Amino acid sequence: MRLIICVALGCLLSVVSAQYQFILPNPNITDLTEHWKVGETIKIQWQGGWHGVGDDPGKTDLWISWFRSNAFSQLLLPNVDLSKDGSFDWKVNVSNHIVETDVQFVFRFCPHTDPPVFTGTENESPSRGFNLLPGPETSSSASSASSTSASATSTTPNNKKKTNVGAIAGGVLGGLVFLIMLLVIALLLLKLARKRKVEKNNAAGEAAYGMLAVGNRTPPSEMTGGPPIKYGAMGQAPTELYGGGVGGGVNQHPYELDGGQGQPMRK
Ligand SMILES: *[C@@H]1O[C@H](CO)[C@@H](O)[C@H](O)[C@H]1NC(C)=O
Ligand SMILES: *[C@@H]1O[C@H](CO)[C@@H](O)[C@H](O)[C@H]1NC(C)=O
Repeated sequence: MRLIICVALGCLLSVVSAQYQFILPNPNITDLTEHWKVGETIKIQWQGGWHGVGDDPGKTDLWISWFRSNAFSQLLLPNVDLSKDGSFDWKVNVSNHIVETDVQFVFRFCPHTDPPVFTGTENESPSRGFNLLPGPETSSSASSASSTSASATSTTPNNKKKTNVGAIAGGVLGGLVFLIMLLVIALLLLKLARKRKVEKNNAAGEAAYGMLAVGNRTPPSEMTGGPPIKYGAMGQAPTELYGGGVGGGVNQHPYELDGGQGQPMRK
């Protein structure tokens, strides 16, 4: 346990000491708290001596790359002698497209190669991570200061509008997503409430159904009970009819007919 803590502390210390290669950006603050806009100038400052990871590579190249991946890298300054203190004012000329893809960046001193090639080696001295925000896209040559400042002032409002539009769009989208989530939650709650109601109704309904069933059972029995009486009366009537009418009638008629037929024959 202690060993793990010591190793972790050692790692932290080595990382922290590695950050001290840079005096600017400020190494004393946490990663990704500082930000600059494209077109702004970042003052980069470092102290002499190798404060990075691995052996002192002697000559280095200063790069900027994404904080979390090496998919993007751009050379700032080739062939930097790190045996002496130094500084470099860098006008942020990363394309807005790159900045919009990922806002998190880091400066890195890497072993010098000729021509400089970014290899993403562990043998490096990184700065604190920082954020770059989209800004006025600048032409690659920053020679004519007046024209760039003019273009900067002319494009800044546009860009602000763009970011405002972006922010508004984001806000609207966020609001929509929030509303949809609210709706979904409301629907779910409604469903749950309905389910509970149905369950309650079922629970109460079993008793009510029982009552209904009793109520249902009685009317039919009354109905069936009623007609049987009528049937009984009708049943009696048929027997009465059958007994008297058919039985007697049939028996009597033949006699009467026989008698009647017999009479003409007697005439
Ligand atoms: C960072 O901290 C070191 C040591 O505490 C200090 O010497 C240095 O001035 C600080 N740098 C900044 C930019 O505040
Ligand atoms: C960006 O700035 C660096 C340093 O000033 C320069 O070497 C490089 O050519 C510039 N890149 C672009 C694409 O403008």
